[in-house]
Amino acid sequence: MKRLKQHVIWGQRGSFILAATGSAVGLGNIWKFPYITGENGGGAFVLMYLLCILLIGIPIMMAEILMGRRARANPIIATAELCEAAGASKLWTGIGWMGALAGLVILSFYTVIAGWTLEYIVAAVSGEFTGLTGEASKQLFDGLLADPGKMLQWHTLFTLMTVVILALGVTRGLESSVRVMMPLLFVLLLVLLGYAAVEGEFATSLRFMFSFNPQDISWESALVAMGHSFFTLSLGMGAIMAYGAYMPSNQSVSRTVLYVALLDTLVALVAGVAIFALVFATPGISPGSGPGLMFVTLPVAFGNMSAGLVFGAIFFVMVMLAAWTSTISLLEPGVAYLNERFGFNRVAASILLGVVAWAMGLGSVWSFNDWSAKQFLWGKSYFDTMDFIATNIMLPLGGVLIALFVGWKLRDHHILHELASESPRLVRWWRPVLKFISPVAVLVVLINGIFPVLRAVFVE
Ligand code: PFF
Repeated sequence: MKRLKQHVIWGQRGSFILAATGSAVGLGNIWKFPYITGENGGGAFVLMYLLCILLIGIPIMMAEILMGRRARANPIIATAELCEAAGASKLWTGIGWMGALAGLVILSFYTVIAGWTLEYIVAAVSGEFTGLTGEASKQLFDGLLADPGKMLQWHTLFTLMTVVILALGVTRGLESSVRVMMPLLFVLLLVLLGYAAVEGEFATSLRFMFSFNPQDISWESALVAMGHSFFTLSLGMGAIMAYGAYMPSNQSVSRTVLYVALLDTLVALVAGVAIFALVFATPGISPGSGPGLMFVTLPVAFGNMSAGLVFGAIFFVMVMLAAWTSTISLLEPGVAYLNERFGFNRVAASILLGVVAWAMGLGSVWSFNDWSAKQFLWGKSYFDTMDFIATNIMLPLGGVLIALFVGWKLRDHHILHELASESPRLVRWWRPVLKFISPVAVLVVLINGIFPVLRAVFVE
């Protein structure tokens, strides 16, 4: 495939780790991980999740980085060039195309939810959490969902924030922003952990998150853990591959991946411990309260604690930063493609794709109000349809294909020199896991994800 420009490489130490961690740490860690842990029983779920990170997440992340760094191009051109080099069928190029498309789809609804954090920062600062009861908190949240104008305003603002960073370029935009935002995010998280230790039921929370009860292990929760390990590390859609193209050649891929996976997991665990400590300290609310945990339950906890407004605002700023460093990685594969393939400048490419994602997100905004009765695929709302297609189909499919492509199609001479400075023991371990274990595990996630729909279409 024709390409116009040589890629930039991030010069400053640690930039790649910060950017990849920024992509990985997002709503998945702070919003989703705690509530699915709550719903699936705590400790046993955490253990399964860690196992999935090790057997699925880490091997596939290494594969994505290697592809990006080897080709030094965006995921579409990278897969095309590697296909050609390996003499593999052109169909494998679908990995890059599907990834860029999945990025647009995820971005379109991710900014809708990320927009809620902006509303909640304003709500915390303006004292709306004070003395909040469970009922009033639910009304506050339902009021936001029922107001398409307000939701649209935050969706638009979050999309704009994403476009601005991408338009500033790979060094001035992406690299500079993660170097500020990620350390800030870590500091805010530690502040919140300290607050939860003082104000919350810390010991109860630790017991909930880490006490292991074998009865809680079930097939369903294992599948949730597998699927989540994948989403939380931003795998399967080329975001990490796109960043891999900017990674210096002398940096160790395996060590970097371990850092990213460790940081991502730590943020999820620390956020979980802090959130549950605050929730357990508030009478009348429960930890297993599903998706409403962050936007309904937690504001009640903040509203009834000392200095809860300040720490409530800090919490939602932290979630906003986490989401922001993820949204930029969702659009980067597409922006880099338009730039490297057709010579679009970054400003034009970012605006163009930002507008496309924004427009696709309108349906997600309306899913909670004007379109709440409308059904799209298989009885799902527009929002759930988009989430389903991207998270349950495109990401796992991308992941299986990446594992198979790097595991089976690329020969040693295509990638081994990228791994020259890595520990030989690790490389020996990585290849078989990538060839056999990861694709099978992700395939199980994929089949399970589409199974309810297949049943709905063919059986019921
Ligand atoms: N990893 C992000 C999260 O946990 O919220 C979500 C995500 C970002 C998925 C970027 C995929 C991606 F490319």
